[in-house]
Amino acid sequence: MNVNSNNINWFPGHMAKTRRIIKESLPTVDAVTEILDARMPISSQNPELGELIGGKPLIVLLNKSDMADENATRQWIDYFKKKAVAVLAVDCKSGNGLNKFIPTLKEALKDKIASNEARGMGGKPIRIMVVGIPNIGKSSFINRMAGKNRAKVADKAGVTRRNQWFAIANGIELLDTPGVLWPKFDNPTVGDRLAFIGSVKDEVFDNEALAVRLLEVLVRDYPDRLVHRYKIDNFDNLQPYEVLELIGRKRGMIIKGGEVDTLRAAVMLLDEYRGGKLGKITLDKIGEFDG
Ligand code: G4P
Repeated sequence: MNVNSNNINWFPGHMAKTRRIIKESLPTVDAVTEILDARMPISSQNPELGELIGGKPLIVLLNKSDMADENATRQWIDYFKKKAVAVLAVDCKSGNGLNKFIPTLKEALKDKIASNEARGMGGKPIRIMVVGIPNIGKSSFINRMAGKNRAKVADKAGVTRRNQWFAIANGIELLDTPGVLWPKFDNPTVGDRLAFIGSVKDEVFDNEALAVRLLEVLVRDYPDRLVHRYKIDNFDNLQPYEVLELIGRKRGMIIKGGEVDTLRAAVMLLDEYRGGKLGKITLDKIGEFDG
């Protein structure tokens, strides 16, 4: 595995280091917050996190919910709740939903808080490790939560010196763990979806093939968006590549001989999708990764 995303390489050495950092820091925290992408909560998950954090309470943030299909987000919230995982849909760019983070955290940790209080340690800070794959919005989350109090808290003894702690409101501290968390790259569907949203650099993908694979999903799950955006009224009997040709033709992307410049159409489609021009879209479906 050596996939380049935003100039970061995932390879076994980095993974081992991240694993070690998480394990070493875990005893210093009360809970872990994993930031996921609301458009693809499973594809943006780290495959080992459950095992790495053992019994620590987990709070899942479905970030970038401003770009996700609202119905699907509701279903994903139910999905995590059924697994007894605390979950919140948020938008760390605007801050939407983040006002519920501290109440959700306190609810998830109510036994721990009660036991601290019973032992006369009610003032003890609650410490949360924040993890997520690159580009997921971890810095945006920490900046939003820490706000003006972004002053770093001194590192706890015995823990890696690169760990950064941030005090946020109400005696809660966030740990921004160094190390790069990796997604589930051995699953090609996951690799594709991370590429669709632009999380994996384009150079490692063939844009035309990528756009065709995106069209497969859009034609199946969001045909109305394509109809609306590209004024296509009939997908019947069209293969995804032919849909790409049609989109290019509609946009006047013609090269000599009257052929459609499908590479240009592919780049445009990916750009428009990433820029939210096709509306709020969720790619991961509940149940599709089971089994
Ligand atoms: P990271 O630390 O996990 O690597 O991610 P970071 O916070 O840097 O966020 C990565 C990109 O995602 C940034 O965009 C950021 O603005 C955007 N982002 C984070 N959270 C949200 C969200 O909830 N909704 C939306 N729509 N975007 C979000 P960028 O293009 O790299 O920078 P910029 O647009 O902020 O200039």
